[in-house]
Amino acid sequence: MEPVASTVREMAEDSSFGHAPVMLTEIGEVFAPIVAGTLVDATLGGGGHASSLLAAHPALHLVGLDQDDAAIAAATEQLAPFADRVRIVRTRFDRLSATLSDLGIDKVAGVLFDLGVSSAQLDRADRGFSYRADGPLDMRMDRRAERTAADLVNGLEAGELADVLRRFGDERFADRIARALVAARPITSTGQLADVVRGAIPAAGRRRGGDPAKRSFQALRIAVNDELVVLGDALDQAIDALAPGGRLAVLAYHSGEDRIVKARLRAGERGGCTCPPQLPCVCGAEPELTLLWRGAHTPTAGEVADNRRAASARLRAAERLGVAA
Ligand SMILES: C[S@@+](CC[C@H](N)C(=O)[O-])C[C@H]1O[C@@H](n2cnc3c(N)ncnc32)[C@H](O)[C@@H]1O
Repeated sequence: MEPVASTVREMAEDSSFGHAPVMLTEIGEVFAPIVAGTLVDATLGGGGHASSLLAAHPALHLVGLDQDDAAIAAATEQLAPFADRVRIVRTRFDRLSATLSDLGIDKVAGVLFDLGVSSAQLDRADRGFSYRADGPLDMRMDRRAERTAADLVNGLEAGELADVLRRFGDERFADRIARALVAARPITSTGQLADVVRGAIPAAGRRRGGDPAKRSFQALRIAVNDELVVLGDALDQAIDALAPGGRLAVLAYHSGEDRIVKARLRAGERGGCTCPPQLPCVCGAEPELTLLWRGAHTPTAGEVADNRRAASARLRAAERLGVAA
């Protein structure tokens, strides 16, 4: 497994997409027993994880989803060597059930979510995600969607903006930043947004935790793309789609995302049981999942040294219980 993972990591870094797949070895281990059937990569990106899994499992088929047209183009190129085993669909991942049904697929052997944005999205100034480079204030993963970051920054009330910054960015200066944004309207570029945010944070708060604009950019991106709104529903659909023995792996990069994943996996483990956790179950609930490990796994120090963007990754994984129909 290791040689395949390293080769694919190098391929992905060298490709024009430029996204290094996170925790590639650990993801390979989760899906190691899945040698045949269909695996859904619900966040295909540049196809880094997908190509590694397809190379390691010659009988495996893959359905790849992404809502970003640039990711779809990059993944189509990256996965060309496996084209006869791959179907790629541009869609939001809460259409997972509908997409499988359109493709005539009933149950699947695995589902992978690698949440958030790719390096390719973050690094291209014209996508409007970057606090480092100037570009239009966009932040849409799906460029067919109507609402951009500019619409939120220029349209929300100060209180609503502060709420977004606090909930999705854990920003403790949310009220100050929101007031500064309202005063500086109209804000049309990422450079202008970053300057206003930095200027609103007191000097002491600016000295730690990297660029002070980072948290506000993350918060706005999560709000623009409804990232936390669609996740719970998509996890339900993924768990429903898994055949007994099928595996689910989720990489989250933000505490709000990870809380939703943790709660859904816990609920699956308890099967809706209402008995006190310290007592044996007498309510007849049927667990639907078993966790592959307790808590979340994180990347090695070596991976974080090579790829700073892996630093906040938290990997959770589970196996579907039940008897094959
Ligand atoms: C971290 S990247 C995935 C990288 C990929 N694992 C790889 O190895 O190249 C996340 C991808 O998921 C996509 N994405 C995020 N949320 C999505 C959603 N709700 N529906 C569909 N795609 C989504 C983004 O457009 C992005 O391309």
